[in-house]
Amino acid sequence: MWDFTPPGSVRRELTRRAYSIARVIVYEPSMRYALLGKTGSGKTLFSLVLVSLLIPMDSVGWECWWCDTKDYAPDLDELHRWGFRERGTKAASLTPRKLILLRGTDAEVVEAAQAVAREAMERTAVLLVFDEWAHVVVSTQRAGQGIERAQKSGRGKIGLLGGVQEPVLTPRVLFSQASVLALFNLTHRGDIEIAQKLCPYYAPNWPKEDEDPLPDPHGFWLKWLDGHSGDGRWAYWPSVQEWRASVRT
Ligand SMILES: Nc1ncnc2c1ncn2[C@@H]1O[C@H](COP(=O)(O)OP(=O)(O)OP(=O)(O)O)[C@@H](O)[C@H]1O
Ligand SMILES: [Mg+2]
Repeated sequence: MWDFTPPGSVRRELTRRAYSIARVIVYEPSMRYALLGKTGSGKTLFSLVLVSLLIPMDSVGWECWWCDTKDYAPDLDELHRWGFRERGTKAASLTPRKLILLRGTDAEVVEAAQAVAREAMERTAVLLVFDEWAHVVVSTQRAGQGIERAQKSGRGKIGLLGGVQEPVLTPRVLFSQASVLALFNLTHRGDIEIAQKLCPYYAPNWPKEDEDPLPDPHGFWLKWLDGHSGDGRWAYWPSVQEWRASVRT
């Protein structure tokens, strides 16, 4: 028998604390964001909300380059609703939110992603989003030359956001370089244990009868890793909506 869910009172206390922490946090497009969670846990929606904060539609200078590798119609529809337009089109020239469709064989997608990262380094002031990190990196240990260079030499010039479904498939470099780590819902025991090594409070959002209200399955734990902002503690957010409401713009 194993049960990772902290009692509701602990959750509520951590949530209350999260609000006080959030006031001092400054999110910037140049940071590195790592998101971890099972399919459907809310990573893409969180990314869209975060990007909309960091790269407003009238953003001057900073652009978001969202690299799509999934070709999943609901995600593409959602990206359009959030103002993303396919790069290279006239519509895209009018918005800082560019959608880059990476298509082809697995190897071609990886190579194209590295090229996009190199291009972003040339331009600078680009927040690169790899919604499906595992699709764009060379292996679990190596992100590839283009992305690694953007991570290491692009500090302050290039922002990076990577989403992954499985911790075991996560290249170390995504976590080791992250400024902000968010842990969403997980179901596999091994994955949960990895998440708990990162965050001792981590619990999957299983509905519990003794909790009132039931936790939203899209709740997540968030922490700043590089001491840039916040106080280095984990905060539990019951939903992206509550997290958004706490962030100063
Ligand atoms: N806080 C929330 N409240 C309500 N619905 C949510 C919330 N977060 C996400 N959802 C919805 O849950 C569904 C899955 O979310 P999302 O696509 O962001 O998950 P994901 O982690 O990116 O999944 P995948 O790994 O398969 O890409 C979407 O329909 C999304 O709109
Ligand atoms: Mg997604």
